[in-house]
Amino acid sequence: MEEYSWVPSPPTSDLTHGQLLAIRDLLAAETDEHYALAALYSLPISSAAGSLILIDANENVKGVLWSMIIDENTVRILAFCINSDLQNIGLGTQAWNEFAILVKSEGKSSVYLEVKAENEGAINFYRKVGLNEIAILSKYYHSSIGIIMQGNL
Ligand SMILES: CC(C)(COP(=O)(O)OP(=O)(O)OC[C@H]1O[C@@H](n2cnc3c(N)ncnc32)[C@H](O)[C@@H]1OP(=O)(O)O)[C@@H](O)C(=O)NCCC(=O)NCCS
Repeated sequence: MEEYSWVPSPPTSDLTHGQLLAIRDLLAAETDEHYALAALYSLPISSAAGSLILIDANENVKGVLWSMIIDENTVRILAFCINSDLQNIGLGTQAWNEFAILVKSEGKSSVYLEVKAENEGAINFYRKVGLNEIAILSKYYHSSIGIIMQGNL
């Protein structure tokens, strides 16, 4: 059985080109969000906001939890997804637990994110980790209604 580990995400400028391409393709396949490489590269993700990547033994990226600092108490998750063949086996929960430890160690306790209203799997996941729907974003995504979910870590 192959080994996978969540590790702190380097800033995008320190990822290899291959890793960045893998993340671009993962986000397109799993969330239908299509980023130009330059846009991905400029995301203000931070390890102090709990950002993680899931890697295999060869450092191929199989998942991301990317987060940014909003203010002294708050982080915002910009991307959270795992390769389809590795979903629903607990890796997302593992990432969330590591993310929460990292964020709290930085003195922050509030998290929010945007999710498509039809993404019931992710919404279920976020409810299980204690987030609640707090607002609707009718124009956030091209073809979907967005929901903001927020909670304390
Ligand atoms: C959302 C995601 C990161 C969760 O990670 P994961 O490793 O699949 O989640 P886990 O295996 O830790 O599951 C934890 C719980 O979430 C729920 N869950 C996760 N995915 C689900 C799905 N597709 N449908 C229903 N419930 C789901 C399960 O009920 C599970 O609860 P259980 O432990 O009682 O069975 C992952 O499924 C994913 O990458 N999905 C596609 C991309 C996506 O939608 N990202 C969110 C964008 S905002």
